[in-house]
Amino acid sequence: MGDLFTYNTPHRILSIRMDEDDRQLLHLEWSDGWCQDLHALWLREQCTCSQCRHPASLERILDQTSYSLDLVPTGLSMTGDGALLMRWPQNNGGDRGDSGHESCFEAPWLRHLGRPPVPLPPRRSWGSEMAAQLPRFDYSTLMAQDEALLDWLETLRRTGLTYVEDAPIFDGTVSGLARRIGTVRETNFGGIFEVVARQNSISNAYTSVELPLHVDLPAREYQPGLQFLHCLSNQATGGQSLYCDGLRIAETLRATDPHAFDLLTRVPILFRYHDGQCDYQMSAPLIGLSEQAEVREIRFNPAIMTTAACPQAQFREFQAAYRQFLVFSRDPALRLEIRMQAGQIAVFDNRRVLHGRRAFAADGGRHLQGAYVEWEDVDSRIRVLRRNMP
Ligand code: OGA
Ligand code: ZN
Ligand code: ZN
Repeated sequence: MGDLFTYNTPHRILSIRMDEDDRQLLHLEWSDGWCQDLHALWLREQCTCSQCRHPASLERILDQTSYSLDLVPTGLSMTGDGALLMRWPQNNGGDRGDSGHESCFEAPWLRHLGRPPVPLPPRRSWGSEMAAQLPRFDYSTLMAQDEALLDWLETLRRTGLTYVEDAPIFDGTVSGLARRIGTVRETNFGGIFEVVARQNSISNAYTSVELPLHVDLPAREYQPGLQFLHCLSNQATGGQSLYCDGLRIAETLRATDPHAFDLLTRVPILFRYHDGQCDYQMSAPLIGLSEQAEVREIRFNPAIMTTAACPQAQFREFQAAYRQFLVFSRDPALRLEIRMQAGQIAVFDNRRVLHGRRAFAADGGRHLQGAYVEWEDVDSRIRVLRRNMP
């Protein structure tokens, strides 16, 4: 069916009939009693014959204006193996002059309306109890085994924070692990960014000061999805890593102070990163919601948030809401503190989990290498891995 995914269903199509009033509407009766309505135009568009989809690319070549909006099938039948066979009229069936156009739709594909049923694992928010339950994965196993890779990526989807252990303490190891998933997202800080204390740094990250909880690069239209931080050395005094689940903060705020939550989902904040070479600016609310009003992303970074776009007369009200978010992020019941060891790679959802670090002594004893990967690449990898597994 023009699809690399194998669709399955335990059910069979028992009968097909056209609606008595609307001859473009088909009713399929299934063995479990379900009556499925399908429109002729929807079916025509989905045809996977070699005139409608390129057999190698599986992409559509059918011109979606080449048939009439009043198109009605001329024939309906079922094949021996339970697929739906449809014939279309020559003059408006887009058949390019051959003897008629025929489309065949397999029952499992119809059952799923052509949408691969691979639900991604739901997110589960966490508080400080995560310290004792932090999901840890062995670097060599992840690099060698697809089952372990899938387990890790699905865990990342759920918790948004994992540690990879016993990675080689070599320059560039972090991008090797990132490439196990997909392409590395390069930014103005490079494909790999070096987190070391420097003179005249272009970011607080590359100094030895405390980095309060934040997400990286909120001044970008599209904040990096996944962040990797590989610890090459951590002998300096201080420098402990901090994490807090922004999803949990947002959920807590929603439950305890719906007005503050609402303000943080509506008032755009201008985030800005600029240096000698660039000037990135993005304006968006701290809490991004999906169409279903679920928390989709957290955009929070006190170091580079400039101003909130609310009327000055309402600024106190906004500030109170913003401060409430900050207060939650500092609640010991919601955050964890971990001292990274050389060979560990922290991997976390940069649009959900806030991260930070304590100030450290700038004696050269601390060096992390970081990289970013997008969630769309993670999800694609999950789907392909699942496709190849029983
Ligand atoms: C960063 C960062 C954390 C650390 O580079 O953005 O948050 O532990 N670093 O140094
Ligand atoms: Zn076709
Ligand atoms: Zn950071």
